[in-house]
Amino acid sequence: MSAELRVENLRKVFPPTKGTPLAKAAIDDVSFTIAAGEIVVLLGPSGCGKTTTLRCVAGLEHPTSGRIAIGGTMYTDPQAGVLVPPRARNLGMVFQSYAVWPHMTVRQNVAYPLKARGVKRSEQAGFIEEALSLVELSAYTDRPVTQLSGGQMQRVALARSMVYQPQILLLDEPLSNLDAQLRLRLRDDLRRIIKRVGLTALYVTHDQQEAVVLGDRIGVMRDGLLLQLAAPDELYNRPADIFVAGFTGASNVIAGRLVSRDGARGDVAVAGETLIVRLAGDTAAGSAVSVALRPDNVLLEPANAGPNQFPGRVTSRNYQGTQTVYEVNLLGQTIEALEVGSSIRHAVGDAVTVALPAEVCWGYGA
Ligand SMILES: Nc1ncnc2c1ncn2[C@@H]1O[C@H](COP(=O)(O)OP(=O)(O)OP(=O)(O)O)[C@@H](O)[C@H]1O
Ligand SMILES: [Mg+2]
Repeated sequence: MSAELRVENLRKVFPPTKGTPLAKAAIDDVSFTIAAGEIVVLLGPSGCGKTTTLRCVAGLEHPTSGRIAIGGTMYTDPQAGVLVPPRARNLGMVFQSYAVWPHMTVRQNVAYPLKARGVKRSEQAGFIEEALSLVELSAYTDRPVTQLSGGQMQRVALARSMVYQPQILLLDEPLSNLDAQLRLRLRDDLRRIIKRVGLTALYVTHDQQEAVVLGDRIGVMRDGLLLQLAAPDELYNRPADIFVAGFTGASNVIAGRLVSRDGARGDVAVAGETLIVRLAGDTAAGSAVSVALRPDNVLLEPANAGPNQFPGRVTSRNYQGTQTVYEVNLLGQTIEALEVGSSIRHAVGDAVTVALPAEVCWGYGA
């Protein structure tokens, strides 16, 4: 049954190769816990260490140091000489490539792991039916998998990875080979299916939208480090790091100097004005800070006068039908503002008052 996954101080240094003679840690001091039945998504750009983390959990990769426990049992602890082989971990795995056996039918594919685990033939049928109905492929049971669409093949892979009731489901970019429309549909289905079974899942992707829709919590990785692990809304409203802020779409970065701070509230001097921000770390007064801000949080022509309002001028406009992106000159720089809706409210050259609400101006030590 589904179990808790605990990863402690995981570090993996691959041996040096010709191309990279100086070995750098692929993952460094990565720690997190996934509660039984929880879906955690690791999100980050190519090469940040997502797959390496997943493969360490699977037992396919041996970490340099760190520990991995599943359901309270230690599976990986190189210091203590513990390395349980992948087969004995009872984990389900779904990868980017469909990885279904092409010479088999849907049923044979899903039956395979049961056979390999010595489940009696008489007991197999029930498990197979249940798994196929879960992924809505009951009507395709006897079809050769080569006659399925990409999305259907990935459903077979999912059914096959869940049919033996693994302790944890590991998914590495399972949707990235599908076309855009199918990806959206299967994305929603995946969460529903995983939740219905109540599986603990570790899901890896570089797609921020996918992470938000699928994850109970999201871990943002960069360069082998886990920067922040939090619920999607916390990540979007309180990014702990400027890189995380960027990943949530905070493309505006305003440089300034922290004049004073009061708890998490900071006064930042920018172009002779004071910008009130929310500080993420323990940056000291006097330090240089970068203030990150999402375009949808930049308000043009606010209804009421208040703090953090500055005069600006519209320098460009990009009408996109259901939203308009403006570039506005203010505080000596260009800031992007996004307004939702099909009406165009401002013209290039217009003088506007711009509000930058303090709670969405995130300040980080530069
Ligand atoms: N077998 C290996 N030998 C040497 N270096 C490796 C090996 N596998 C991965 N790496 C390196 O480890 C780092 C992390 O790779 P990893 O595959 O975990 O990234 P990722 O986040 O999954 O990226 P992507 O989104 O492209 O799949 C990269 O710098 C990669 O080059
Ligand atoms: Mg990868």
